[in-house]
Amino acid sequence: MNDNIRSLFDISDLSVEEINQLISLAENIMENPDKYRNACANKRLATLFFEPSTRTRLSFEAAMLDLGGNVIGFADASSSSTQKGETVTDTIHVVGNLVDIIAMRHPKEGAPLAAARKTVVPIINAGDGGHNHPTQTLGDLLTIEKETGRLENLTIGFCGDLTFGRTIHSLVNALSRYKGMNFVFISPDELKIPDYLKEGTLKKHKIPYMETNRIESVIMNLDILYMTRVQKERFFNEADYLRLRDYYILNLKKLEFAKKDLVIMHPLPRVNEIAVEVDDDPRAKYFDQVKCGKYMRMALILKLLNIEMD
Ligand code: NCD
Repeated sequence: MNDNIRSLFDISDLSVEEINQLISLAENIMENPDKYRNACANKRLATLFFEPSTRTRLSFEAAMLDLGGNVIGFADASSSSTQKGETVTDTIHVVGNLVDIIAMRHPKEGAPLAAARKTVVPIINAGDGGHNHPTQTLGDLLTIEKETGRLENLTIGFCGDLTFGRTIHSLVNALSRYKGMNFVFISPDELKIPDYLKEGTLKKHKIPYMETNRIESVIMNLDILYMTRVQKERFFNEADYLRLRDYYILNLKKLEFAKKDLVIMHPLPRVNEIAVEVDDDPRAKYFDQVKCGKYMRMALILKLLNIEMD
């Protein structure tokens, strides 16, 4: 790996100061889109998605196109040379010779880091198995900042599949580095937050947290409720998936007890865990979250390509 190239594998690759700078840059892009319209002219992004995705891939592509750059890539491993037996490292090595920056998603944990050994361009982890999803986290942080006006002193409930939900793992990691955070983990016993996060991240940063399997008993205390789907593709057993799939369904009745300014988030796709009736509640912010994700990806692309506009 070339030491002069900056990549993003894990949200902790960025300092809090850098994350805050990315948030300011994203807000600036949001307010002055014209200023950035040609910022990436003659730059090319590859989106290499070895695992299905709609929003993350399109969000990266929209981000690069809105910066005036180009995009190439594939949306499905079956249309790549992986089918012929090529290793991911070789695929990335080849593509690194054709583009300026790569966004890659892979079902194996750690694959983007391993694949980056031979590249000469920045690599962005767009989701690796049940591990991390740092760019979703960047968009989530911007959403929280915009909706609450702060990234401190918040009580955040994480609900659903906390074992395999990579968006949760990255967001817990990032928020643990901000002041005054209080976490509530809401999940069935089978889908609890992994020990490595409790031991490594929560203890290290002395974050107060509790675990429960009843959303009704904690919803009134939350400033943010981050819902997630049960990750079907990471289960070994269909029966377990079916048993846990509809464990939590957030509906208007449950929300009666929540704060009036609660922020409801979800990385999407939603399956059943948020009833459609909630979409019209002013506290539902999961579709706004999509926009924040694109602006943070624009800011990240500029940073990793060392492009400064002022
Ligand atoms: C998430 C992911 O891929 O981890 N989706 C996304 O990137 N917006 C969440 C999920 O798939 O449940």
